[in-house]
Amino acid sequence: MFKVAVVGASGLLGRAIAGELGQQASWQVVPTAFRRADSHMTVLDARDPQAVDAFIAREKPDALVIAAAERRPDICENDPALARALNVDAVRALASAASRHRTWVLSISTDYVFNGSRPPYRHDDPPTPLNAYGRSKLDGERALLETAERGCVLRLPLLYGPIVDWQESAVTSLVPAIAASVRGAAGATPAIMDAWAIRYPTFTPDVAVVIRQMLECHMHGETVNGIVQWSGDEPMTKYDIARHLAGALRLDAQFKPQHTPTDATPRPHNCHLDAGRLEALGIGRRTPFDEAILQVLTMFPWVG
Ligand SMILES: NC(=O)c1ccc[n+]([C@@H]2O[C@H](COP(=O)([O-])OP(=O)(O)OC[C@H]3O[C@@H](n4cnc5c(N)ncnc54)[C@H](OP(=O)(O)O)[C@@H]3O)[C@@H](O)[C@H]2O)c1
Repeated sequence: MFKVAVVGASGLLGRAIAGELGQQASWQVVPTAFRRADSHMTVLDARDPQAVDAFIAREKPDALVIAAAERRPDICENDPALARALNVDAVRALASAASRHRTWVLSISTDYVFNGSRPPYRHDDPPTPLNAYGRSKLDGERALLETAERGCVLRLPLLYGPIVDWQESAVTSLVPAIAASVRGAAGATPAIMDAWAIRYPTFTPDVAVVIRQMLECHMHGETVNGIVQWSGDEPMTKYDIARHLAGALRLDAQFKPQHTPTDATPRPHNCHLDAGRLEALGIGRRTPFDEAILQVLTMFPWVG
């Protein structure tokens, strides 16, 4: 039996990972959550090193996937200590406990470790984060690679996938504004959408397949260590994403493109991640955006 612990299995990405791994015959998945644990999940506060030690010592997983993080840039900017507790210190504690049991650790990071001025970015390009979220995730990468005897960082861009509420992903969070802009609705005005930052929306079930394939490599003695990256291959601004969403929802929405950034927290222009290292290993799956978003909207229909 190959045993994998998934820390943060209640989140947008962790759910997809636990779902994909749970379908593998002869794999045992141990999902953990913090505030949103259901009866199948272990409650774990990853900021508590003793609880982390006890969890790893009890479960002795063959591999550990860390999908827990504070990933909201505005929260990280306003409370960097809170961000570091989860994005850096908890990663170090998990990596250290895993090393004691020779467990391979895979930790998730972000394209926001780059400043977005010179894409595409290779895994070994020097990181230059623009905001507190990116800085905390970069320090988390370093904590993992310094601490884990066998460890890997997987950088990802903007994620979307099956949701439990619209705000879970920066892709689906556009839906309420799109619906409110529909021509003919009372008080409808065009929805203002950022047309400056270029993103590569990436489908969480595709990332889960990438992670399952990396775990299979590990099982077969071909462990991937160091930094790797994965990304969708369709460049889109939020303005583009909103137009695709309106099409999928069959809404006659009105949009106004915003060509200059207006965010309070600085965000990169284009952090396109080069996935060449994983592609060379034959790893990867990319579901086209229009097909993937229809799956998401079918599972969580708009009833506004
Ligand atoms: N979302 C994106 O667009 C995006 C883009 C690039 C990279 N990433 C990275 O992808 C990873 C997953 O992100 P996500 O979007 O799935 O995040 P998410 O939906 O916000 O989920 C965060 C997870 O962390 C758990 N968590 C929070 N505090 C915890 C604590 N003290 N101890 C243990 N677990 C705790 C949450 O559990 P409870 O909810 O049960 O408390 C939840 O399972 C993160 O590393 C993130 O930086 C995300």
